[in-house]
Formats: sequence, structure tokens, C-alpha cells
Amino acid sequence: MSKPERDPYTGLMTTGHEWNGIKELMTPVPRPVKFFLATTILLSVLLWILYPTWPYGPNYTKGVLGVDQRTIVEENLSRSAALRMVWEEKFTATDMSELEADDGAMTFVRSHGARLFEDNCSACHGLDASGGPGFPSLTDDQWLWGGDADTILETLRVGINTSHDETRYAEMLAFGDQGILDSTERRALTTYVISLSRPDELTEQQTEGLPVGQELFLDNCSSCHGDDGGGILDVGAPNLTDDFWIYGGDAESIAATLRHGRIGVMPYWEDRLSEADRRLLTLYIRDLGPKPQ
Ligand code: HEC
Ligand code: HEC
Repeated sequence: MSKPERDPYTGLMTTGHEWNGIKELMTPVPRPVKFFLATTILLSVLLWILYPTWPYGPNYTKGVLGVDQRTIVEENLSRSAALRMVWEEKFTATDMSELEADDGAMTFVRSHGARLFEDNCSACHGLDASGGPGFPSLTDDQWLWGGDADTILETLRVGINTSHDETRYAEMLAFGDQGILDSTERRALTTYVISLSRPDELTEQQTEGLPVGQELFLDNCSSCHGDDGGGILDVGAPNLTDDFWIYGGDAESIAATLRHGRIGVMPYWEDRLSEADRRLLTLYIRDLGPKPQ
């Protein structure tokens, strides 16, 4: 029972339906809407033709432009691999001192080295390479094994106390736990070690006891740390006369070192970083430290 009629107020036709006395005007869809609908449909058909779109079974419509995300990624990868080849070659073939004098190379070292360091080393040595308890700072001029390029490169290659066949090996003996020195001797040695860098901190009584500590030191410690406690690079034993400490220079930390020993592990990187990367990191570390005059 529907009969279109003209609405007396708007002058438009109604749909002719009536629901409980309510009638609906026959308002046409506005033209802009029709226009955009048509355009988007056209556009999507165009895109289906140009680009990969519809999956069917194991394949999909490829589109006439031949666009393929995988090819794009592969192209990017091979481009960056080519770039990498260039500097890998440069960093492997060129002498370290020559690279160090080369501003272009060092600019590259500072940007790429920072990222390599962050990814591989900062968990232990800290983001700024300044170390922390148990992990030596790499920014000072104090070294366990030496800070020249060849030595750092070798440390990175074989690590310290690792499973590498040629690992650097260095252990601070557990003089207490192994019953080599009793607690009185260790106390005298702790005081003596403090006297090497901060003699002002000792009481008069402690200062009087220093000769005993010194004798114990010469008997038990100097073979690794040197007669003057200045450290011996060949055996990776740290300098005990400066302000740099791996495990802490307060009496408690030194006493703990003497009692339980220390054996820090620095992983080896021969399998995990390319020679070029290790050289780059070596240059990066040397660049962080104080510059030789
Ligand atoms: C798992 C922790 C750890 C990671 C990761 C690590 N190191 Fe070490 N590193 C150590 C420890 C511990 C020592 C000191 C070993 C010792 O006490 O004998 C050390 C020592 C060194 C030394 C010798 C310092 C000296 O005085 O001779 C260098 C150089 C070094 N690390 C560089 C690096 C670089 C570069 C990386 C990243 C590729 C790195 N380390 C990653 C723990 C780590
Ligand atoms: C066999 C060689 C060896 C002997 C002997 C030795 N040390 Fe050490 N000592 C080391 C090494 C190697 C380290 C570094 C250990 C590490 O970093 O893991 C060290 C570390 C230390 C440290 C910690 C330094 C720091 O920066 O925190 C102290 C303190 C120390 N030794 C004192 C002594 C005293 C005192 C004696 C004598 C009783 C002694 N050492 C005998 C090899 C030795």
C-alpha cells in the first residue's frame, strides 16, 4: 500500500512507505558522495591491475608494475653489503696507525664503533666504556694487558680467561680460601696495598706496620704485580698504585680480593665479530682514552 506523493512542505516526493503515520522523503544520494564512490572504485580497480593484490591458491596476482617488496629489501641489502665491503676491506687492509691518522676513517669509527660497542660491549663495560664493579674502564690509560692497538686487538680476538685455545689467562689467587695467607697476613697486605695509592688514609699504627706488609708483598705478590705494585702487563696483573680499581680500592674490597681471589672473564670475539669489526672497535676504544702527546 505505497503510493509516492509530493510532500507539501519541502516539495520533494516521498518514498511512498508509511510507518505508523511517518513518511520518508525521497532524498537522492548527494552527487559528491556518488562521485567519490565512483572514483574510489575506479582507483581500486586500477591498483589491482598495477600492484600485487589477490591471493589465489599458492600464488597471487602480481600486477603489471612488477613491484615486489622482497626484491626491494634484497636490493637494499645488497647495496649496504657493497658499502660494507668497501670499509671492511679498508679496515682490514690498512695499518692501524694509518687509520688512526685518517680523519675520514676515524669519523666512521666514531659513528659505527659506538653502535658496535653498544651492541656487544656496553652490557659489561658500560655505555660510555667507563666500566663498573668487576669490569675495567676502557677510557683511562690504565691497562691490564696494554692499550696499544695490537694488544687490544689480540685481547678482543682471544678474550681473557675464556675457552679460546689461545686465551689470555690471568687469575688473582684466592690467598685466603686456599690457605696461602692467614687473616693477619692478609690484613697487613690490605693496609700495604692501600698505602700504595693513599698513604694519607692510614693511622700511625698502620703506618708502623707497613714494613711487614711490604715483605709479604715482595714474597707473594710482586711476581705478578711488580715490586713496586705498578702491575705487569705481560701477566694481566693490574697496577695497584693508582686510583683505578676493577673491584674496589676500599679496605673491604681489597680484603675480599685477597681472600677469595678474582678471575674476570672477558669473552673472545674471534667467532662473533669480523676482523674489520674488531679493528674498528680497537680504534674506537683508543679514541675514547687520553690522547698520547
Ligand atoms: C661479559 C662481560 C664483557 C663483555 C660483553 C665485554 N667485556 Fe671486555 N672485559 C670484561 C672483563 C671482566 C674484563 C677484565 C678481565 C680481567 O679482569 O682480567 C674485560 C677486559 C677488556 C679489555 C682489556 C682491558 C685491559 O686493561 O687490558 C678490553 C680491551 C675489553 N675488555 C674490550 C671489550 C670490547 C671491545 C668488548 C665488546 C666487543 C667487550 N670488552 C665486551 C668483560 C666483558
Ligand atoms: C698469579 C699472579 C698474581 C699474584 C701472585 C697476585 N695477584 Fe693480585 N691480581 C692478579 C690479577 C691477574 C688480577 C686481576 C684479576 C681480574 O681482573 O680478574 C689481580 C687483582 C688484584 C687486586 C684487585 C685490583 C682491582 O683493581 O680491583 C688486588 C687488590 C690484588 N690483586 C692484590 C694482590 C696482592 C696483595 C697479592 C699478594 C698477596 C696479589 N695480588 C698476588 C694477579 C696476581
